[in-house]
Amino acid sequence: MKTVADYIKTIPDFPKPGILFRDVTSVLDDAEGFKLAIDELDKLLDGVDYDIIAGVESRGFLFGAPLAYNNDKPFALVRKKGKLPRETVEESYSLEYGTATIELHKDAIKPGDKVIIIDDLIATGGTVEAAAKLVERLGGEVVKMIFLIELTDLKGREYLKNYDVASVVQYE
Ligand code: PRP
Ligand code: HPA
Repeated sequence: MKTVADYIKTIPDFPKPGILFRDVTSVLDDAEGFKLAIDELDKLLDGVDYDIIAGVESRGFLFGAPLAYNNDKPFALVRKKGKLPRETVEESYSLEYGTATIELHKDAIKPGDKVIIIDDLIATGGTVEAAAKLVERLGGEVVKMIFLIELTDLKGREYLKNYDVASVVQYE
């Protein structure tokens, strides 16, 4: 029986020397791999009470939207700055390589909403922390953060110790 890890390819020295890049495109390339990934992410939500899933651009969309569809939940798009057409809140953060700003439509989250945040991967945790701040600024409660891949050496889980963090596949 294959696991999600069997579908993830590791690319050395991308996007720069010394980085071991865990590639999710190879999961999506395979219909069984994609289905397995969604099914495993779904299991992380067993027993969790939530209203909406928020996914982080861009790879968070790939897994978040099918998961929301499967569970009859709405999906909110956390996008890179300048992409969302209506009124937004925004937050800047540091990445493993660089800095960025993300936005969320002001009406995407209602006060009191219980929110799942999803991304393909957690490294330092900076991106998802910024996403959580956006949700919280709109009055939402982040009930769980879920990821297909967790890079444990980068200690995102420790950085986000005030949140419930779960992942399908872990790499050092
Ligand atoms: C990657 C990844 C996460 C983030 C993880 O996204 O998809 O969103 O970095 O890093 P962190 O935990 O250290 O913040 P990237 O910004 O490369 O965007 P992409 O999904 O559009 O490729
Ligand atoms: N793989 C994919 N995305 C990433 C990585 C990685 O190893 N690190 C930060 N974003």
